[in-house]
Amino acid sequence: MQYILSPSLLAADIGHLAEEVGAVEKAGAQYLHLDVMDGHFVPSFSFGPPAIASLRGQSSLVFDVHLMVQEPRRYLEDFVKAGADIITVHAEAVTHLDRTLYAIRETGLKAGVALNPATPLSVLDWILPLTDMVLLMTVNPGFGGQPYIPYCNDKIRALRSLIRERGLQTDIEVDGGVTLQNVQDVLDAGANVIVSGSGIFRGDAGANTAAFMDILRKQEAGR
Ligand code: DX5
Ligand code: ZN
Repeated sequence: MQYILSPSLLAADIGHLAEEVGAVEKAGAQYLHLDVMDGHFVPSFSFGPPAIASLRGQSSLVFDVHLMVQEPRRYLEDFVKAGADIITVHAEAVTHLDRTLYAIRETGLKAGVALNPATPLSVLDWILPLTDMVLLMTVNPGFGGQPYIPYCNDKIRALRSLIRERGLQTDIEVDGGVTLQNVQDVLDAGANVIVSGSGIFRGDAGANTAAFMDILRKQEAGR
């Protein structure tokens, strides 16, 4: 299994975005996690397609776009044009999830489904084969810097078993409250794509990325 780090730009210094992105890319991160918030599905606003399009010209990281947006299919084309590589939608924010996942895959991009901490895994039952990545929220979405919700480790474990039983290769991305202190538990539970915002951008982003990558590489090598 491939282990991937996806630093969340939400915690970066907005005045120096290009430098922050450059630092995590240079230190070995493979993805860039871009949190889009609409002030409706979640209380806060963040940024949209124009900011992503501008960063696209400055980075070759995989753009991992997390849409915390009500009925995101309305904006799908905008995010494709802006340069997204993976588009993740919330099961709670989409009325026709099957149709939305098909629509994402039809654009040639990878499709992800995000679940809030309280949302059961059973919403995935019928659409798991249409999903390249499941994003498990380990805080309630909307803000960076919140503490990891401990029961989520069991949820990650249950999802990894489900994916294995069904013979699928679906990635499990974990988002919210992941730090250098708890990432090993998250990996051991079965996650393989790690999002971290404040764990990376609070302090030296390059050094923090390198420390995360060290743990991820050891996990990939079987420790
Ligand atoms: C929260 C966002 C996260 C957030 C993670 O709603 O989806 O991606 O930026 O930030 P930390 O790692 O600080 O919890
Ligand atoms: Zn996110």
